[in-house]
This record gives sequence, C-alpha cells and structure tokens, in this order.
Amino acid sequence: MFAERVLSGMRPTGRLHLGHYHGVLKNWVRLQAEYPCLFFVADWHALTTNYDNPKVIEDSVWDMVVDWLAAGVDPNQSTVFIQSRVPEHAELHLLLSMMCPLGWLERVPTYKDQQEKLSAKDLSTYGFLGYPLLQSADILIYRADKVPVGEDQIPHVELTREVARRFNHMYGREPGFEEKAKEAVKKLGSKRAKLYEEFRTRFQQNGEEDALERGKALLEEAQSLSLGDRERLYGYLEGGGKVILPEPGVLLTEASKMPGLDGQKMSKSYGNTIFLRDDSETVSKKIRTMKTDPQRMRRTDAGDPEKCPVWQFHLVYSSDETRSWVTQGCKSAGIGCLECKQPLIDAVQKEQDAMRERAQPYLDDPSLVRSIVADGCDKARKLAQETMREVREAMGLSYS
Ligand code: TRP
Ligand code: SF4
Repeated sequence: MFAERVLSGMRPTGRLHLGHYHGVLKNWVRLQAEYPCLFFVADWHALTTNYDNPKVIEDSVWDMVVDWLAAGVDPNQSTVFIQSRVPEHAELHLLLSMMCPLGWLERVPTYKDQQEKLSAKDLSTYGFLGYPLLQSADILIYRADKVPVGEDQIPHVELTREVARRFNHMYGREPGFEEKAKEAVKKLGSKRAKLYEEFRTRFQQNGEEDALERGKALLEEAQSLSLGDRERLYGYLEGGGKVILPEPGVLLTEASKMPGLDGQKMSKSYGNTIFLRDDSETVSKKIRTMKTDPQRMRRTDAGDPEKCPVWQFHLVYSSDETRSWVTQGCKSAGIGCLECKQPLIDAVQKEQDAMRERAQPYLDDPSLVRSIVADGCDKARKLAQETMREVREAMGLSYS
C-alpha cells in the first residue's frame, strides 16, 4: 500500500562477516534494484543491550556502513541512514507506547529468549521491553510495506501489524470521515471515481478480494492525491477509517547457508568467522587451518564430505564440477585436504577482492561515507516528518 517501499535495519555491534554477507547484504543488494529501499543503522536498538558499553556502537557504525557499501549497497539506489539521526523515530515510539498494551510486548518471544541468552546483562529494563515497539516505529514511520528480516524477527513485524491496526482503529476515525472521503473520491476524476466506487461496492458487498486489490492499485496510480486523501480513500475502500499507518509485510530472508569455519552457524560469539575486512593472508590461513573429516587422519585415509565443514563451504562457493571433483577425490583419498581447500580460498578471495575494491575509496576518504549518510538522513527525515504530521494530528496534538 502507499508507495512500495522496503525498509531494514542492522544493529552496529561489531565487525561484519561472511554470514552477514550471504544472509542479509546480498539480499539487500538484490532488493535495491527492484524497490525503493531504506537501510539504516539501528544504533538505538544496539543501546538496548549495550547501554553499559556504548563504545562498541560508536566503533562499529562507520565500519558497518563501509561494509554495506563494499557489499554493493548503492547509495544512488538506496537510502542509507542512522536511526538516531532521525529523532522522529523516538517520537513515534513514544506515541505508540501510549496505546501499546504491555502484554503484547511481554509475550514477544525474543524478550524472554534474549534475557536468558544474555543473562550476564541486566535486561529487565524499560528500553529492552520496548525493543520491538521501537522497531515498529522504525517501520511505520516510513509506511514501509516490505520488511526483509530473518525468521527470528517475524514476531516483531507481526507486532508492528497489530500496533498499526490498533492505531488506525483508534485514531483513524476523524469527524466527518464519510463526507471527506466522498470529497476525495471526486478528486480522482470522473472515470477513476466511477471505477473506485465499483471496486468499493464489490469488496464491501460481496467481499471480492480482487476488487480490493484493484481498488488499491487504482489509488497507487492516482498521483495527484494528497496524503490525507489517500489515507481516507484506502480506509473508505476497506470500510474502516483513515489508514494512517499501513500494515507492513515480511519479506522472509532465507537463513544464511553460510556455515562457520567449524561447521556450526557462523557467528562472532563462536569465533568461527571470516570477516569482510580480513586481509587475504588471514583468509587463506583461516581456511587452511579449518578442521576436516576427523576420520581422515592421514592423506591416505578416505574421507566423507558429509562429515566435513569444508564441504559446507563448497556448497556455498563451488560449481557442480568442483563439487564432484571433491566428492570423488575425498572418498577415494585421491586428493589431499589442502588441495580440496584451494578452490575455496580462491573463491572467497575473489569475492573479497571485489569488496575491497569497492571499499577503498571510502577508506581513503571517510568524508564520502559521512556525506552519503548525511544525505540519507535528510531524505529519511523528510519522509518521517510527513508521517509524524499525520500522526500528531490524528492523536490530537496539532492544537494551536
Ligand atoms: N531488530 C533487528 C535485528 O536485530 C534490527 C532492526 C531494528 C530492524 N529496526 C528494524 C530490522 C526495522 C527491520 C526493520 O536484526
Ligand atoms: Fe573435507 Fe575436502 Fe578433506 Fe574431504 S578432502 S575431508 S571434503 S577437506
């Protein structure tokens, strides 16, 4: 609904590794060619768990943005910004907190999970409980309809939908809604107005979903509508009040197939990562020292790729041809493990060379990154301010 728009954020809590690249960044890069995208550094979200050590955040923010750019996020296609530089997120979070039932937050699964997982930290804080609501504000303030996230984040988007629904229900009922909606229909021009009325009747009387979709598409095409009229017409079409905060949908990001050096999930806390900024020496060394099938003690022992973390890397990086060479050579002891790893070293190096090349101008001149982010913040802020005007008015805060 409204403009198709993608929004996603990442917390700055340390250096990015191949798991981030294959799991998230490649996906962002693909999306930016298809949709207008907003990608932001969720520094306030990082503070909810790192409030006692904010230095990590400060240290990671710019490197993280450089890693995004290195991975191919293109500032000409995507808006890249920092959450805390768009303070409207905080205002919307506060306003949503007025009407968000406590129980909705307490039952978000990540709340208890993370508290248990990070038991060394005291996370019985107000801010941590509000984590998913802050995320809702991030999403709703841009009226984003597509949120690419991993599975663990689905409950947060689900909460966002519930919050939006409640908000629209409570505050979308302006006085004289019907009359205003009818006025807005006229502004569509007679041909469109007639179609709109037809779709509306078909949806509301016969429940034809198809008519609803076509009505929405019609509104999307109607360029000249003001934001307020657009909200009214969406709401009028569906039979409610104004749709001030549209409900977002999830774009599920497949779990990263990128395993760690030891075959477990690649994660900083397991110490099994290849960082995007590792130099080529380090990359080679990390792969060369990877553990292999424990049955293959000697070069002459046959092995089984299924029991070897190196094979997992081949699944990400190698062609069918190379893979059958590996399977054969391993099972017949025809190749050695170092030999088996060489194509991987080459493939990861090649991938990272491209990233290093893209990162270099930003490392040479950090002011480039600052200015990309400053532009992004300006753009994001304009969008956020527009939504906040509507939200304040709907909540009765625009009095003079
Ligand atoms: N919570 C998300 C994560 O940990 C980061 C995030 C914050 C986010 N705000 C967002 C993701 C809004 C998508 C949309 O990965
Ligand atoms: Fe693993 Fe390759 Fe060695 Fe087989 S040959 S054990 S797949 S590293």
